Amino acid sequence: GRIPDNTSPHSTFFHPGSASAAERATFLMQKGVTIWLTGLSASGKSTIACALEQHLLHLNKFVYRLDGDNVRFGLNKDLGFDEKSRNENIRRIGEVSRLFTDACCITITAFISPYRADRALAREIHKKDNLGFIEVFIDAPLHIVEQRDPKGLYKKARAGEIKEFTGISAPYEAPEAPELRIPTDECDVQEAVRRITEIVTFWFIRA
Ligand code: PPS
Repeated sequence: GRIPDNTSPHSTFFHPGSASAAERATFLMQKGVTIWLTGLSASGKSTIACALEQHLLHLNKFVYRLDGDNVRFGLNKDLGFDEKSRNENIRRIGEVSRLFTDACCITITAFISPYRADRALAREIHKKDNLGFIEVFIDAPLHIVEQRDPKGLYKKARAGEIKEFTGISAPYEAPEAPELRIPTDECDVQEAVRRITEIVTFWFIRA
């Protein structure tokens, strides 16, 4: 309900909880945007996400990273890696990132998000609320990530010890039209951060 504003000489009313996105952006001096990283396991998503978060934070930006460590162990700890669970994982992350971004945060997500339809849904969730969504393809070829194999998961997947492993026994559907592609053979972490920051700045100017 509306609350009469007795301190004003005019017949104005407070509208509790109805701060508009524009009002929030003005007072917080920041507009939100979701930076959606996608790529194979060990492609460098988390490393790039962390470096990007540091970089933007040091520019005094309100920035937050969603990744496996704070989502798969919390909100989504009920989910595994079969197709349906991944669909639900990404749907929830899409909804959470929408909320963060609506709250004027620069939201960085770092999940494999292997299915095109799931990423399209996350984009749609943002679009219907007029929120920015930047899809960034961390493009590292399978033979490279398999060589790196920092957690030994590819080896286990090849041996059949892990079922439905992305790139080995489960699909990865590469983005067809991402806002940005980071070829990891050309870009070190610094360069990836520079390129992503550039496109984020462009988004803010355009907005
Ligand atoms: S998804 O597909 O977006 O739901 O996956 P995500 O939430 O990003 O989780 C990927 C990390 O979980 C570990 N892991 C697996 N990945 C792929 N396939 C299978 N079957 C699997 N089982 C466990 C793996 O360490 C991934 O970590 P990253 O950081 O991507 O290397």
